[in-house]
Amino acid sequence: MTESVTITDNRTGESIEIPIVDGGIDAGSWKKLLGNIWFADPGFTQTAATESAITELDGEAGVLRYRGYPIEQLAEKSTYLEVAFLLIYGELPTPQQYEDWTHAITYHTFIHENVRKRTLEGFHHDAHPMGMLVSTVAALSTFYPEAKDIHVEEIRNKQIVRAIAKMPTLAAGAHRSSVGMPFVYPDNTLDFTSNFLSMMWKIAEPHYEADPVLSRALDVLFILHADHEQNCGTTAMRVIGSSHADPYSALAGATAALYGPRHGGANEAVIKMLTEIGHIDNVADYVKSVKEGKGRLQGFGHRVYKNYDPRAKIIKETADKVFEVTGKNPLLDIALKLEEVALADDYFVSRKLYPNVDFYSGLIYQAMRFPIEMFTVLFAIPRTAGWLAHWRELVLQDQKIARPRQLYTGSGPRDYVGIYQR
Ligand code: ACO
Repeated sequence: MTESVTITDNRTGESIEIPIVDGGIDAGSWKKLLGNIWFADPGFTQTAATESAITELDGEAGVLRYRGYPIEQLAEKSTYLEVAFLLIYGELPTPQQYEDWTHAITYHTFIHENVRKRTLEGFHHDAHPMGMLVSTVAALSTFYPEAKDIHVEEIRNKQIVRAIAKMPTLAAGAHRSSVGMPFVYPDNTLDFTSNFLSMMWKIAEPHYEADPVLSRALDVLFILHADHEQNCGTTAMRVIGSSHADPYSALAGATAALYGPRHGGANEAVIKMLTEIGHIDNVADYVKSVKEGKGRLQGFGHRVYKNYDPRAKIIKETADKVFEVTGKNPLLDIALKLEEVALADDYFVSRKLYPNVDFYSGLIYQAMRFPIEMFTVLFAIPRTAGWLAHWRELVLQDQKIARPRQLYTGSGPRDYVGIYQR
């Protein structure tokens, strides 16, 4: 079998054979034959925007691997910080590299006092923490102007450490400010997730001790959310990064993309939906209304997965461990019933709509007392590692600036008409 496609321009009879490489065909070859014919692909459903060696996703088979390692093994055996290193630098760290990496991140968790006083505390009292996060991440670029030197490896690495380290501090700070609680400074004696929980929940105790089960559960959730190849937020990161903007500005754009309900905002939407359903007896009617086109089943369906999202399986197991500590989230029964009804219904089966990562994550976050507004923030913290991995890869690939074409469908040429002649 020849691994190529042949394209013929029926207007001229000219043909071109294009080899299939790594599952794609080169648009450059297409361009040779069809210079002014653009590929119409809104939403990039059939467009590979880049080559990437970071995350492999087989949506039909329900497979997810970071740098070749199955997500199931990483969730069971690794830590978020180790996974972050793996995603960014391509290999699991040696013991010395891991120690240096963990140490560097632990010692970059503090934020400049002006970020706290002037930026975080400058928001309205009921500001959404995601809006605060987007803005404060962008503000970091003004505190580290050297970050613009994206081609200097040492400077790049410094911003990577800073961004991963400061994200939980900004996230917890946004929460504290939105509930009128004083800011809690990072505690460098704690591990990454325990420190975050301390900054979230510490009140008057001299040293906050997170429950180790909850701390580990959060670490597992962070591993699962760390990367997901060319999703909307990562694409935003790469598009902004391709203009050679500094990484904080690009991260702010990626965080903003994640904010939307079709992306990272879905876990918030799931809890609202389950609360609205209210009781397992109402599940069948709710599913019926979805099938009639009255809204979507939140936490179901995925652009790439046409099978059970492998992360959803792990999250379901994690939920059981968390509920042993926190008590069961009363919405769990509704969620389980909803999954059962949907997966037995031809509407969902024929469209290959399965639970995605967001279907169960919100139940865990809620049981751990996180307010709903923090759910997407909890997604943004670990996704920072993935965004930075893609940003670094893009810089090293020296990719062209992202600049797609359009199919113009507007008015033809016409002359300006003065305002009183219209
Ligand atoms: N509930 C009901 N029907 C759905 C759902 C859903 N959640 N998702 C898709 N469909 C239906 C569509 O109505 C469409 O049906 P049709 O062919 O009869 O018109 C078909 O399935 C295909 O849907 P598309 O919108 O074309 O699929 P797309 O790949 O564009 O959308 C998306 C993917 C946005 C995730 C979608 O499934 C959705 O809105 N899900 C709910 C929100 C959600 O859970 N988002 C989180 C995604 S994971 C993440 O970002 C972390």
